[in-house]
Amino acid sequence: MIPTVVDDLPLGDVAPGQVFVIRNHESRYLTHTFHKYAGKFIPQIPRWAMRRHLERNEGRLVLDPFVGSGTTLVECLLDGQRGVGIDVDPLARLICKVKTTLLPQQELARLPETIEARLRAVKRGTHKPQIATIAHWFNDKAIRDLSAIRAVVEEYRDKPDLFDFLLICFSAVVRRASNADNQTMKTYVSHTHHKTPEPAKPLFLNTVRDYATRMVKLGELVSEKGSATVLDNADARSLPKVWSAANLPKVDLAITSPPYIKSVDYIYNQMAELFWIGETWDLETQSKQNQFKLRYIGTDRPNSAPVPPVDRLPGSVRKYVKEVAETSPFLADVMIRYFGDMLAHFDGMRKILRSHAHYVLVVGDSTLAGVAVPTHELLSDCAVVAGFSAQQTFAYEIRNKHMRFPRAGRGGEVHHDWVIDLTTTSKATNGRERRGRSEGGRRQPS
Ligand SMILES: C[S@@+](CC[C@H](N)C(=O)[O-])C[C@H]1O[C@@H](n2cnc3c(N)ncnc32)[C@H](O)[C@@H]1O
Repeated sequence: MIPTVVDDLPLGDVAPGQVFVIRNHESRYLTHTFHKYAGKFIPQIPRWAMRRHLERNEGRLVLDPFVGSGTTLVECLLDGQRGVGIDVDPLARLICKVKTTLLPQQELARLPETIEARLRAVKRGTHKPQIATIAHWFNDKAIRDLSAIRAVVEEYRDKPDLFDFLLICFSAVVRRASNADNQTMKTYVSHTHHKTPEPAKPLFLNTVRDYATRMVKLGELVSEKGSATVLDNADARSLPKVWSAANLPKVDLAITSPPYIKSVDYIYNQMAELFWIGETWDLETQSKQNQFKLRYIGTDRPNSAPVPPVDRLPGSVRKYVKEVAETSPFLADVMIRYFGDMLAHFDGMRKILRSHAHYVLVVGDSTLAGVAVPTHELLSDCAVVAGFSAQQTFAYEIRNKHMRFPRAGRGGEVHHDWVIDLTTTSKATNGRERRGRSEGGRRQPS
């Protein structure tokens, strides 16, 4: 289909499978730029979903169950909704919290100057990664400077929100000050592209200045009813349990970009940062980090847990699993786990969503063992098994490269992302009695 160029995604119904190019795709505003994070989606998507399904400044409960660095929650603040986020990744939760926690303007205004003075005064710190390979990742000057910065950040321990803000400023400069390549998400030292690490102290100071300015601007634009909360230690596979523990009312709208099958290793991407701040979550060494990776949906870590039964998975998923299994039984197992986990997620989401509420997902397709897997169709089919129906499905082209990381190579090149707009209208099934493919694009009466 020929793409349609638009300023903003249309709020009305669109033809099934329509592809859009969003001209007005500026994504780097306010606190959206805080910290790198793999798979950030463009803020235009949550903004579009809220405009389509809610009234501005309604204070409705909006959930992002895979909130990542918090794009949805920043948009909730701006749109005047009550945003709640869930993520297994502790660094993601902290980035999200910092991006959405307003700090007193006066405090922000004097912060850069105070930090500059402290950086001049503090020459050494005591904190240093306890890893045998430290010299591989950081040169001596970087270690000394990062250690001194960490000591300055520690001085703010008794002001938790300010401390978290500075910890994220610190984490945001670690990669650039390290020997690890800046161009890829994965943490590795390239032997072909020599890198000169950037001096950590000026980098940190500039980051504090930039983030503080952005935070002040966000504070001026937050809508009256906007709020943002990140739940601690919650897993998107057990939403009803999480919801009753948090004692929250039913969800008015859910918006997310779920993990991909085997394409992003969040812990590996954050390894350099975790060496410096990971002790906060008991994740400061590689062995602890490797163990933690099993918690992520879509992980391709060898897993000793039994592969779940496929009975409830839709026929379309089973067909692709069979195709992938011909070349890679291992990846076929990864797929079964992924779609099984996502089905459990949809089951739970259906229980905590209000009746006829919407669930908007952004999904990229991938290539596994040479097989082009239409993940968006398969997820839509899983959602139908859990009692959703697809109201509309369309795609947009990714033009804003700095917000995304190419999934070329093993994860497959992704040219555009799909938006699936689901509603809760039918009952969950056992997977065999469902009526064919989801009705992408056909509007259900609500
Ligand atoms: C594509 S990213 C979301 C990015 C987000 N939209 C943003 O703009 O930053 C998917 C997220 O799912 C999270 N995730 C993976 N498994 C999870 C689980 N079992 N429960 C909750 N979150 C999970 C990952 O940590 C990751 O942050």
